[in-house]
Amino acid sequence: MSAAGNGTGGEPVFIPLGRPPEEPGHFGGPDAPISYPPQIRARLDADADEIIARYPQPRSAILALLHLVQAEDSCVTPAGLSFCAERLGLTRVEVAGVASFYSMYRRTPTGKYLVGVCTNTLCAVMGGDAIFDALRRHLRIDNDQTTPDDSITLQHVECNAACDYAPVVMVNWEFFDNQTPDSARLLADGLRFGPPPRPTRGGQLCPYRQTERILAGFPQDRQVDTAGAPTVAGLSAFHAGGPTSAPGGDSRCC
Ligand code: FES
Repeated sequence: MSAAGNGTGGEPVFIPLGRPPEEPGHFGGPDAPISYPPQIRARLDADADEIIARYPQPRSAILALLHLVQAEDSCVTPAGLSFCAERLGLTRVEVAGVASFYSMYRRTPTGKYLVGVCTNTLCAVMGGDAIFDALRRHLRIDNDQTTPDDSITLQHVECNAACDYAPVVMVNWEFFDNQTPDSARLLADGLRFGPPPRPTRGGQLCPYRQTERILAGFPQDRQVDTAGAPTVAGLSAFHAGGPTSAPGGDSRCC
């Protein structure tokens, strides 16, 4: 339990703090590959050549290369760690240090759709915790688990800088804004039984491994919309020569 002043000199506000989401201690799980067969290795090498050539030093390509191995295995595996280390001239420990720092690099296999419910401060207050709980019950899985049909992996996610649309659910890192427990259940049903729903903004959904390939920097053949109006309200006001804050003084974004 944490106490925070409400900024008005009144009674303190008590916020119950739950357990942090568990994280597996190692990468990959029991069936994860420890090396790649020659055919897969040759394909990954060709992709890695292209990625590494974009940077002044090979080690600068580490984030993109980790996405590449996630496109192969749906998470970071011992084979992926060794591949990145070998191609970048780093140790496996150095690669694991980076992969374990960023939550977009996953330690367990991922289903076709990674459903991330933002339970960071603003989304939690606006209903994110209730949405996560509704999905957990609806799908009968817990944090970081995947449905038996391999369609959905459910995960708590941190703030995605979309607080102006809270509470937010991400599916393969595309935004589904202003969600409720009911809309999130419908979203999950659409993902499982089709057709996959269209995100509120951004690009059309594609399977998790394909998303990871896009994040590795390979071209995407889908239309991607621009940012939504609330996100660019301040910028629009600035260009219009008006006040530099969003209309109504909205400063919800953290
Ligand atoms: S707190 Fe959820 S997007 Fe910022």
